[in-house]
Amino acid sequence: MKAHIAGERLIDKNDCKTCHNKNVRTIGPSFRQIAQRYPLDDETVATLTNKVIKGGAGIWGSLVVMSAHPRFRF
Ligand code: HEC
Repeated sequence: MKAHIAGERLIDKNDCKTCHNKNVRTIGPSFRQIAQRYPLDDETVATLTNKVIKGGAGIWGSLVVMSAHPRFRF
């Protein structure tokens, strides 16, 4: 399966859309902004996966903290 299709399914199954829109910044950065910021390589996948599981703040200047997703469903 192509990575972006797997990613869209994963976003649909979880609560990501509460705070993220594909193209427009809402509570969190848009997925397009995130894609433009990082190179698509193993390091980025590892860093961002970790961030989604643990949550966090401080990178995008948002007022809200990204929630942790310890039982993130693939
Ligand atoms: C409660 C709101 C909220 C939810 C729900 C949420 N996010 Fe986020 N997300 C944020 C915020 C706020 C940021 C910016 C954090 C920062 O500035 O470090 C962010 C940042 C990110 C980033 C970029 C991280 C970085 O360090 O650059 C990714 C990737 C991401 N979210 C993916 C997801 C995915 C996938 C889901 C669903 C499993 C999800 N988010 C659910 C609020 C949320």
